[in-house]
Amino acid sequence: MNQDELKKQVAEAAIEYVETGTVIGVGTGSTANYFIDALARIKGRIEGTVASSVASADRLKSHGIAVMDLNQAGQLSVYVDGADEVDDYLHLIKGGGGALTREKIVAGASDKFVCICDESKLVKVLGTFPLPIEVIPMAQSYVARELVKFGGRPELRQGFTTDNGNIILDVRDLEILEPGKLESELNNIPGIVTVGIFANRPADVLLLGTGKGVETRSAP
Ligand code: A5P
Repeated sequence: MNQDELKKQVAEAAIEYVETGTVIGVGTGSTANYFIDALARIKGRIEGTVASSVASADRLKSHGIAVMDLNQAGQLSVYVDGADEVDDYLHLIKGGGGALTREKIVAGASDKFVCICDESKLVKVLGTFPLPIEVIPMAQSYVARELVKFGGRPELRQGFTTDNGNIILDVRDLEILEPGKLESELNNIPGIVTVGIFANRPADVLLLGTGKGVETRSAP
């Protein structure tokens, strides 16, 4: 199976976690897109969705799936989304698509976070994928200098503005041995909106697409 087939396989497996009559959170990216397409087949079973990006909201609406504002929806039963890296503790790096802030909000507002990935995303230590960080534009230089003190090599994501009107710094060379600690420390730097480490609220379930089928893992 190629990578796209693995993504599709896990996206379809995630349908099992959709609870009838509830509002669910929907992520962003190519794997989440396969989930949205699968969701279209059972859209009559759910009350609606909250999207983690404008792009996902547009795709949901194109399938005739109701998209709600999180403030109206309240607590969500489940959040389904991909990741750029995942470790054995279901800590994640996210934000390759730049939607990390809304993704972290929707994940936080959900009872269960189901992460859907192909096996190429599984790592022992997070940090090979450059860590995306959403930053208020006026703080770009200051935040970049602070990130260098952590041993990182920040680079501005060129020509990209987030759905919230901010910039993304992609940070290379971070070996993330204590993801929860680094997430909290970086969150304390003024000007950083969101860090793409999802460790303080990790995934609850990982559906990993492998050549031998879908492997289901729970947070230890
Ligand atoms: C979007 O901002 C990201 O967090 C995505 O969830 C992540 O980049 C995974 O994307 P793919 O499913 O396209 O690999």
